[in-house]
Amino acid sequence: MAVQAIRWAQGCLSIVDQTLLPGKLQYITLDTEEDVWNAIQQMKVRGAPAIGCCAAHGLVVGVRDRKPADLQSAKEAVIAVSNHLASARPTAYSLFWALDRMRNCAAQCPEDLSVDTFMERLVKEAHDIQQEDAEMCQLMGNYGAEFIKNGDGILTHCNTGALATGGYGTALSAMFRAHDQGKRFQVYAGETRPLLQGARLTAWELMDAGIDVTLICDNTAAQVMKEGKIQQVFVGADRIAANGDTANKVGTYALAVLAQAHNIPFYVVAPSNTFDAGISNGDTIPIEERCSTEVTHAFGQLTAPPGVSVYCPAFDVTPNTLITAFITERGILKPPYTKAIQWILDPHKLEMA
Ligand code: MRU
Repeated sequence: MAVQAIRWAQGCLSIVDQTLLPGKLQYITLDTEEDVWNAIQQMKVRGAPAIGCCAAHGLVVGVRDRKPADLQSAKEAVIAVSNHLASARPTAYSLFWALDRMRNCAAQCPEDLSVDTFMERLVKEAHDIQQEDAEMCQLMGNYGAEFIKNGDGILTHCNTGALATGGYGTALSAMFRAHDQGKRFQVYAGETRPLLQGARLTAWELMDAGIDVTLICDNTAAQVMKEGKIQQVFVGADRIAANGDTANKVGTYALAVLAQAHNIPFYVVAPSNTFDAGISNGDTIPIEERCSTEVTHAFGQLTAPPGVSVYCPAFDVTPNTLITAFITERGILKPPYTKAIQWILDPHKLEMA
């Protein structure tokens, strides 16, 4: 049974505090809007789909916190809270997608609804978002597992497992599924500097599932490819532009370049709500820059000379030309991507055209 990163029970939102892993598996409750904003910003909850699921439930917490006296004030609170939560992190599209969906749900509520019923509708919408995310994880896992063969070596980056989603994961879901099917393979997890999501979270999740995992420093990727240990690269995505350029954890782009140089397929596993039709190419995807101390300090310990200047983008953009295929809950997308991505975003519209 995979860990559940986000829980809503008896009107209470709790999350695994991912900053404490792998040392401690501890749930914390998010009682206020500020708690939710801080949890996302400080990456206690992280991974694009998980951020979206947490924000959807967090919106309920925030609106309830404001104690709206009538429906009009409750609807205004939805706008205010969603604007605030949307400012927690800029890159993962799921955050904005989930908050938009919550706003639409609120807007569609008839004006004669009581505040209590309105809140129930918001709770249900947040629940549905997480439930659907879990279902998408299963579907991506089924599609992705088809690419994995006995004896393969698979390189992955950052964390794309249950901790990063409302279900089993995106890229890791393919590995969980292939393992369930009885396939045996070796995963190489890049440690993912600076915050070590690969070492702390991915290695922990894979070991827990009984999957063979070998941890490598990020700068070992070229060497393991050259040694013939890697047959595929599987990564997730935070935001995908309309042409397929893909923002994911910094270091992903380097892996894609290396994969091409070594003739290794490079797969991006992501649900359809990661695709941002409003952004034509990767140049305009907003890339989060994080605090310099994430680079100069390792868990509170200074690891660089005080005062050194630091550049710390949390994500980079892999050009679509380096991506062999996208694995989504609606199927596999192969190049050329623009038309395929239009279809993924609105299959019905394109079928009618
Ligand atoms: O900064 P993080 O840890 O939120 O970044 C997460 C990633 O880059 C993941 O690869 C991405 O969200 C895909 S998750 C299923």
